[in-house]
Amino acid sequence: MSAMASVVLQKLDGAPWDIEPYLRLGGYEAWRRCVKNEVSRDDIVAEIKRSGLRGRGGAGFPTGTKWDKVLHHRVKERYFVCNAGEHEPGTFKDRYLLKHYPHHLLEGCLIAAYSVESKASFIYINHEYEEERDSLEKAIEEAKARGLMGKDVLGTGVDLELELFSGQGSYVAGEETAMLESMQGRPAMPRQKPPFYPTDFGLYGKPTLVNNVETLCNVPRILRNGAGWFTGIGTETCPGTMLFSVSGAVDKPGIYEMPMGTPLRRLIEEAGGVPGGRKVKAVFPGGPSFAMITADQLDLHMDFDSLKKAGTGLGSAGVMVVDDATCLVAETLRYSEFFKVESCGQCPPCRMGTINLASLMSKVERGEGTQKDLDSLLQLCGFVKGTGYCTLVTGAAVLVQSSLRLFRQEYEEHIALKRCPYQAVAAGVD
Ligand SMILES: Cc1cc2nc3c(=O)[nH]c(=O)nc-3n(C[C@H](O)[C@H](O)[C@H](O)COP(=O)(O)O)c2cc1C
Repeated sequence: MSAMASVVLQKLDGAPWDIEPYLRLGGYEAWRRCVKNEVSRDDIVAEIKRSGLRGRGGAGFPTGTKWDKVLHHRVKERYFVCNAGEHEPGTFKDRYLLKHYPHHLLEGCLIAAYSVESKASFIYINHEYEEERDSLEKAIEEAKARGLMGKDVLGTGVDLELELFSGQGSYVAGEETAMLESMQGRPAMPRQKPPFYPTDFGLYGKPTLVNNVETLCNVPRILRNGAGWFTGIGTETCPGTMLFSVSGAVDKPGIYEMPMGTPLRRLIEEAGGVPGGRKVKAVFPGGPSFAMITADQLDLHMDFDSLKKAGTGLGSAGVMVVDDATCLVAETLRYSEFFKVESCGQCPPCRMGTINLASLMSKVERGEGTQKDLDSLLQLCGFVKGTGYCTLVTGAAVLVQSSLRLFRQEYEEHIALKRCPYQAVAAGVD
């Protein structure tokens, strides 16, 4: 682990979304070198590979490997899409980057699109992000006015446009193949994988590079400072920083950029700790699709591999803190409802599984559940886990499994008392 540099994002003086402060800090320098052919496409991809950058959209897939695959694909018609569909509860870091650091993103997109020789390039943006879209549009105008994008970039003969595509407004639409389907005018439903990975079969069935906003924002600074700079931050297998979206029972919810591998306890302290003299009861370290952890696990390191080893995951780092005044059954129900509503309904185990999980969870939470319902919940999780064309239903199952494994006693209390014990306390019944 490197020293704890708390914030690594460059602080821009003046309005952060203007091009001037970005240029003063060496912004677009990496792009200029790429487009002027001072570095070859293979060199760019090799440097990204050496940096060990892993995708920040949830799966942590090695970015350089993906770029390599598209660049060297035998099919020459390729596409590039930046995924700014962000829709997961507890994750709001892409929104922050879009609004405050649009030029970091644009430069990352330009380099990515150029590197894979993309025929057409897009930024797929959550349709609710209006201010963020304005910020991005303004940044595009500024970049065009400086000849950094559009026709004949910096007099090199390279033409590169980035088109904004308004998202479908659903969680599943952020899954890359569902996103590509929706961009072709079809329902936003995931494709079956394998074989339909976007690097081989993407937009219009052609090789397509899809990367998350945060992943792409890392690209210019890696090329500017060198892969060695990046590997000096974070852990050996998860270099760099992560933008943690911290919410729930913390005094200062927000975005915290910290090195990968930062202990969870440190992150919660940075976010002001739990307010009102309350204690941490549970934490979702990677949003609602990964297992929760308990207060005795706060020394866990926040990176893809450490959390996977601990039986959970980092996802897109939507860290949700739950305090000891919160009913975990109600909290679990809330996200079970989310999964039910957001299931696209294409795969029967997901469609039926998320409905049944939410309905059983609701029954238990209302105080009408039985021991048999708890057994049914676990059985159902076992049935649906790992099914479906995307990971939505697996997330829904993991949520309930981890909640029941760690907080079974609260489920038992609901059954024994025939009501939610927490609501009773709040209403002064106890
Ligand atoms: C249900 C679901 C929703 C997703 N939503 C997003 C999203 O909003 N933004 C995103 O970048 N990735 C999302 N992903 C992950 C993408 O499918 C894909 O892995 C990612 O965009 C690749 O970029 P990266 O390699 O830079 O992380 C989602 C995945 C699933 C299963």
